Amino acid sequence: YVLGIDLGTSAVKILLLNKAGAVCLEETRGYPLIQIKSGFSEQDPEEWIRKTIDALQSLLRRFEGNIEDIEGISFSGQMHGLVLLDGDGNVLRDAILWNDTRTAKQCEEIYNKFSKEKLLTVTKNPALEGFTLPKLLWVKENEPELFSKASTFMLPKDYVRYRMTGHIATEYSDAAGTLLLNINEKTWSLEICEALGIPPTLCPPLVESQDCVGTLTPAFASESGLSPATQVFAGGADNACGAIGSGILKKGETLCSIGTSGVILSYEDKGDLDFEGKVHYFNHGKKDAFYTMGVTLSAGHSLHWFKEVFAKENDFETLLEGTDNVPIGSNGLIFTPYLTGERTPYADSVIRGSFIGMDSSHSIKDFVRAVLEGITFSLHESIQIFRENGKVIDTVVSIGGGAKNDAWLQMQADIFDATIVRLKSEQGPGVGAAMLAAVGVGWFTSLEECAEVFTEKMKEFKPIAANVERYKRLFRIYQEVYVSTK
Ligand code: XUL
Repeated sequence: YVLGIDLGTSAVKILLLNKAGAVCLEETRGYPLIQIKSGFSEQDPEEWIRKTIDALQSLLRRFEGNIEDIEGISFSGQMHGLVLLDGDGNVLRDAILWNDTRTAKQCEEIYNKFSKEKLLTVTKNPALEGFTLPKLLWVKENEPELFSKASTFMLPKDYVRYRMTGHIATEYSDAAGTLLLNINEKTWSLEICEALGIPPTLCPPLVESQDCVGTLTPAFASESGLSPATQVFAGGADNACGAIGSGILKKGETLCSIGTSGVILSYEDKGDLDFEGKVHYFNHGKKDAFYTMGVTLSAGHSLHWFKEVFAKENDFETLLEGTDNVPIGSNGLIFTPYLTGERTPYADSVIRGSFIGMDSSHSIKDFVRAVLEGITFSLHESIQIFRENGKVIDTVVSIGGGAKNDAWLQMQADIFDATIVRLKSEQGPGVGAAMLAAVGVGWFTSLEECAEVFTEKMKEFKPIAANVERYKRLFRIYQEVYVSTK
């Protein structure tokens, strides 16, 4: 067996998979966002550890096999979050997360000290509020005393792995999202560190996603119930692991992943293409490969927000029930999902969402359908950027919460005008993490070989021509909402 630990934004999900790629056991533990001001989004790293241990303990209580048969563990994690440690390995403050947008000023400062052109050459990405470097600069400016005590920064899942093994490291797919990595040379950029006054000693050692970083500490093994001999592999960013867990491992393959955020991701075999920073460009969890992606900041988060505010008593299944009977266009209601600003295509942290066209005849089902359509239209903006850059997107593998509901998958097919594929498990990031462990312990010689077993296709959703045409007209109206509300 292998374990995949996916440290998400709303919860930690742990999957136990066997050699046939079947999810034998799973356990989820939620944790809240700490949002003390609009634009702020933090989490307590200790809460990640508590919930991971709690989930592992219950999963292992249900495990009927031999504990030594759990050979390896790996990780997938929410990207970009800043965890700061002092020289004794203690956390200095709550982690500042990827969906925190307090750093507009720091992004400007980056461009003042290091031109956008140069930044795009080295990191292949523009300065965006969500990335790690602006967060480091924010702490440096606003909490200088605390910053002076920092000995290393870490990404969220790297902190959990550190607590499990005692080894400090990050790997390229998450390092790529810091804005401090030269993604082609695979080294921390001393040039950027120097220009922005970040001591390079703060950057953790770099390893490959498949590398074994060690085994569990005796303390963690005894608390969780795992064998101390379990091998621990570095793991990857959630989107890189989502790609691995969906078999997005060669050129021409595209992924739609809807979690708290939503992404459209495309595999790249090279790191030197030019998208002018319109989409993110990161190292893949597969060695020496890359991916590009567009990000909708509040995808699943929009639906979650809607449910919490207006329909708390429902579960998601009940909430979505019957929305496929509402006509395309939600009876004239349009939703834009900019609840926490937007990344692609606008890179705008201050824009906010809207419902446009509310009518006294609308029911809650119209609203829910409008939310689903708005999220999917936002993702379609990324599909469009890829197509404008010459990519052919005729098939998209869909994972995450957005892949649990047939009507939403059909909506994706009709809005993207592409065939949508559902896999045997929609939990791409957790499966991808488990695959890194499965290859690491030697069950397979490559991720591709593992993907043949672990990422079986279950169902296809074909675009329906009449629906495609209706959505094309509605998409143009949807796009006007940004311009008008801006
Ligand atoms: C990607 C991003 C999000 C997080 C969500 O750039 O910020 O997709 O990785 O966990």
